[in-house]
Amino acid sequence: MRVPTVALITGITGQDGSYLAEQLLDLGHEVHGLIRRSSSFNTARIEHLYVDPHVEGARLKLHYGDLLDSSSLRRLIEEVRPDEVYNLAAQSHVRVSFDMPEYTAATIVQGTTSLLEAIRQSDVRPRFYQAGSSEMFGAVLEPWQDESSPFRPQSPYAAAKVGAHAMVRVYREAYGLFAVNGILFNHESPRRSPTFVTRKITRGIARILAGLDTGLFLGNLEASRDWGYAPEYMEAVRLMLQQDEPDDFVIATGETHSVREFMVETFRLAQLDQERYVHFDPVYLRPAEVESLRGDASKAAERLGWKPRTKFTALVRIMLEADCREVGLDPAKVLLPADEVA
Ligand code: NAP
Ligand code: GDD
Repeated sequence: MRVPTVALITGITGQDGSYLAEQLLDLGHEVHGLIRRSSSFNTARIEHLYVDPHVEGARLKLHYGDLLDSSSLRRLIEEVRPDEVYNLAAQSHVRVSFDMPEYTAATIVQGTTSLLEAIRQSDVRPRFYQAGSSEMFGAVLEPWQDESSPFRPQSPYAAAKVGAHAMVRVYREAYGLFAVNGILFNHESPRRSPTFVTRKITRGIARILAGLDTGLFLGNLEASRDWGYAPEYMEAVRLMLQQDEPDDFVIATGETHSVREFMVETFRLAQLDQERYVHFDPVYLRPAEVESLRGDASKAAERLGWKPRTKFTALVRIMLEADCREVGLDPAKVLLPADEVA
């Protein structure tokens, strides 16, 4: 039985942070989250976990800070004295990174360095997780990517993630920090932000079914991604910090599907004619595209005992059903029954 630990999560208000916090709390750990001040609420994904911190036994605590405010990071490390730090915060949208390259690089490279430095300069020695990305592989030359595949980043986001990845290795090797890089392929869920393509499609179709929207505007349908289910990927992340030695791991399903395939499967479940509803909008194209990604997670299977469980069609259904419920529709009444899934 693992002894309860104190975990600090940056990016706790995001998709991954919310699942990770949920899992750590379920396991009995104390969780601290760094949140940004925002003019409107940004805690919807973690509200179900929140208990007034003054209540005895409350194990989730939120702290204001920002990856770009190194003083807040130093203060947090000293105050919280975490056993584990999960650095999930980032400007995480690839398309947006072309519009905001400096801000993207600042949150990812400078922010990660500031957090590592806050740890190094303190007397606290937490284990450290860095949220790396399959986007780092970029313009791939091989059909599969694993931990030894070269990085050929295609966006400011990916280039920044390569920089943060390298920085984590430097702190591991130069200072002996237990610091690991996860290289996670795309992972989705009903908590995915609707600006990413999978959720944009499932949410858009649910809204069409509910009569709230009349169409869906998309960019490049031919790009392929290796799409997994986010809660399972956070299980892998936790396991990475439980190893005897720090190391880097690819997390992926090993299957690749195009955006078009995702769209076709969603329309099939909703029994709608895609020709009527899908429109092309060049605004969603990127100055440089990553055409295809497919991960080989054999090392994670062997060393972490981790394997993906949710396959592509099941993922589409999970997301579409959740979006139907969100707009007040009963999935059993509006979607093709589960046993008719291909
Ligand atoms: P997400 O939903 O976009 O969440 C990003 C989080 O970072 C949010 O909590 C956001 O806070 C926070 N954040 C952004 N800028 C910040 C700053 N300057 N200071 C403090 N916090 C800041 O992303 P996600 O999908 O959960 O992904 C988590 C991490 O994994 C990211 O680093 C992403 O790049 C990486 N990743 C994701 C995937 C994937 O498929 N999901 C794959 C590989 C790697 P607000 O709520 O205030 O905006
Ligand atoms: N967002 C978006 N919106 N993408 C679209 C659209 C659209 O309307 N139409 C087509 N696409 C295509 C993009 O061009 C890209 O090829 C693919 O859909 C996936 O785009 P996103 O869902 O935005 O994800 P991503 O692969 O660029 O990035 C996500 O996964 C990375 C892991 O590989 C993000 O979560 C990154 O933070 C993460 O690192």
